[in-house]
Amino acid sequence: MNEQIVILDFGSQYTQVIARRVRECNVYSTILHFNTPAAKIAAMKPRGIILSGGPSSVYAKNAPLPDGNIFKMGLPILGICFGVQLLAQFLGGKVEKGQKREYGKGTLKIKDKSCALFDSLPSSLQVWNSHGDKLTKMPAGFKAVAVTENSEYAAIENRAKKFFGLQFHPEVVHTPRGKEIISNFVHGVCGCGKGWTMRNYVDQAVEEIRAQVGDERVILGLSGGVDSSVAAALLHKAVGDQLTCIFVNNGLLRAREAEVVQEVFGRNFKLKLQYENTSALFLRKLKSVTDPERKRKIIGKTFIEVFQAATKRAGKAKFLAQGTLYPDVIESVPIAGNPAALIKSHHNVGGLPKNMKFALVEPLKCLFKDEVRLLGVELGLPKEIVWRQPFPGPGLAVRILGEVTPSRCEILRNADAIVVEEMKSSGLYYKIWQSFAVLLPVRSVGVMGDERTYDYTIAIRAVESQDGMTADWVKLPYDLLEKLASRIINEVKGVNRCVLDITSKPPGTIEWE
Ligand code: XMP
Repeated sequence: MNEQIVILDFGSQYTQVIARRVRECNVYSTILHFNTPAAKIAAMKPRGIILSGGPSSVYAKNAPLPDGNIFKMGLPILGICFGVQLLAQFLGGKVEKGQKREYGKGTLKIKDKSCALFDSLPSSLQVWNSHGDKLTKMPAGFKAVAVTENSEYAAIENRAKKFFGLQFHPEVVHTPRGKEIISNFVHGVCGCGKGWTMRNYVDQAVEEIRAQVGDERVILGLSGGVDSSVAAALLHKAVGDQLTCIFVNNGLLRAREAEVVQEVFGRNFKLKLQYENTSALFLRKLKSVTDPERKRKIIGKTFIEVFQAATKRAGKAKFLAQGTLYPDVIESVPIAGNPAALIKSHHNVGGLPKNMKFALVEPLKCLFKDEVRLLGVELGLPKEIVWRQPFPGPGLAVRILGEVTPSRCEILRNADAIVVEEMKSSGLYYKIWQSFAVLLPVRSVGVMGDERTYDYTIAIRAVESQDGMTADWVKLPYDLLEKLASRIINEVKGVNRCVLDITSKPPGTIEWE
């Protein structure tokens, strides 16, 4: 692997953000559990170590602590928040409960401009704090290089050992120049180059995939979503016709989705695409079903049956490729109160049955989502696929309340196409998390021309979110809303009313089900 920085995770909600910031500096980063043995870290030959923040107190009985030998490896270390308190605790300083919790914006005054972390930065910086405990005595060999209103040890340094500690969070956006501090650490202090780019990654991944797969065959379930699409393009580059992609049309796809996938992957990329049009089967199984959980179960089970049969038809293959991402494989440090630890059970598809014996190829498993998108661009995938909004596996079924019928699918597909089109032309589609239409099985009276109508209602849902765990509804401009409503009601047969969903998550969810 490339030059890398190891990040020890002490349960901060920002650990992955630190890892991403390092990678944005074109340096590879790996997140490890806080108590990873120093020998194991040494074997990975990192150029430096970052100790993440965390919700614990270093003096608490069950505090997460690292292997003390990491401080004897001769590597540069940057401790952030809880991380600086660890440095102090291990090296002879003192940490105490602060008089008042320091939370939110602060101003950092740099006292020693020669500290490498603040190279090329002004002497006063806006920073973000979030800590209760406080460093009250520095360990021997350390010097305070910056202060805040509330802390005389906001940044400390042991120049000889290349140990640094920051009481604030340089990784969050509320520390606007924090990325430069991280860049100064990884480049200036640790001496890393800028080798981590998606262009380099393509070459490296292609080599690794070829080494793993040899001349065996690979199957991939292509959904048209970002992850499976990028995985498909990458594998195709690596093993060409040894790859067969299976694309299942479950009848619950958005307008033109099946066409786009066939066009991009079949005609443009010329990869072996096995198109399974099983719409009728799915819709038959969903007939008369109204309970949302049952719908999901039926769709999940039918998908596995269809996929299993399709793999048999595809011929013998040793490997199954999956678009697993880095956040799915990081061994998480379970910390109470960390919302990222909440698992949404209904999104776990449950995997494939045990009797499907494949070895796995997971070429995206060290990448974050934003890197996967960059990789997609690098591989020549169109913007329409690389930057598409998330779309749930059970498709339109979770956006049609009540029974899913072919005619309701048709109505929703038409309404949704208008939402997507108008959101794209307003420039908002790629800026927000999701925007879509929902079909409510409620009919109400209207007048169209001289006629009385009795038709369905469409709800418009547009949300902003970082990861789908929490979300805010988007305040769409009135003229856009007006256009959406008027187009949907005029153009979509079967709809005579349009409403806007203004529920945030929590307490609502993004999808209606
Ligand atoms: P909810 O509705 O739980 O959705 O607030 C959060 C995010 O997850 C997406 N979602 C799904 N994705 N399979 C998926 O792959 C599913 O079954 C599923 N259900 C919801 C949803 O679109 C939103 O982005």
